[in-house]
Amino acid sequence: MEQAPRFPYDFIDQVIVSEEEIKTRVVELGEQIASDYKDSKNLLLLGLLRGSVVFMTDLMRNIHLPMTLDFMSVSSYSGTSSSGFVRIDSDHKTNIQGWDVILIDDIVDSGYTISTVKKLLLDRKPNSLKVCALLDKEESHKVGLTIDYYGFKIPDYFVVGYGLDIDEKGRNLPYIASVDLKRYRK
Ligand code: IMP
Ligand code: MG
Repeated sequence: MEQAPRFPYDFIDQVIVSEEEIKTRVVELGEQIASDYKDSKNLLLLGLLRGSVVFMTDLMRNIHLPMTLDFMSVSSYSGTSSSGFVRIDSDHKTNIQGWDVILIDDIVDSGYTISTVKKLLLDRKPNSLKVCALLDKEESHKVGLTIDYYGFKIPDYFVVGYGLDIDEKGRNLPYIASVDLKRYRK
């Protein structure tokens, strides 16, 4: 009998963060955020589409506080490299003035996306603004920035899964896996 392939995409190299590790860490992050924001009256999780969606929907169910959510869509990537130019494709709906905003993203690579969006949001006068990213490629930062909450620090691999994609593929994987770029065909 033919064995089922280990991964549903043939360009996957190896699992970097397992489903179990993600689950455990997301519970911890939710608890930490709930404790830090227990006195907040207006907590908003603001996710960057589309990569943050899987992380955000799991994270918010582990924050046992009143809160709301909103989304923005920005793009800076084409293929596997950041262009450095960040474009706002669709803006959030909430007027964030006076809100405690936590900006949620899937991964920080060069840091251009988060630092650009942070500047823009600060102009809109939130009460506070913090950043939460599932993954941080710390060695790849090209701008100085603070990630207030992160799930895992990873080396400079190109990864997919748990919301992260390569040309829209791979978002449905329940774990984080590295891409074998030699085997990857568009
Ligand atoms: P930055 O602006 O270079 O920090 O890039 C951040 C954005 O690039 C993230 O929101 C992701 O959408 C995308 N990105 C960066 N690295 C990866 C990766 O390894 N896999 C998938 N997307 C990535
Ligand atoms: Mg993204």
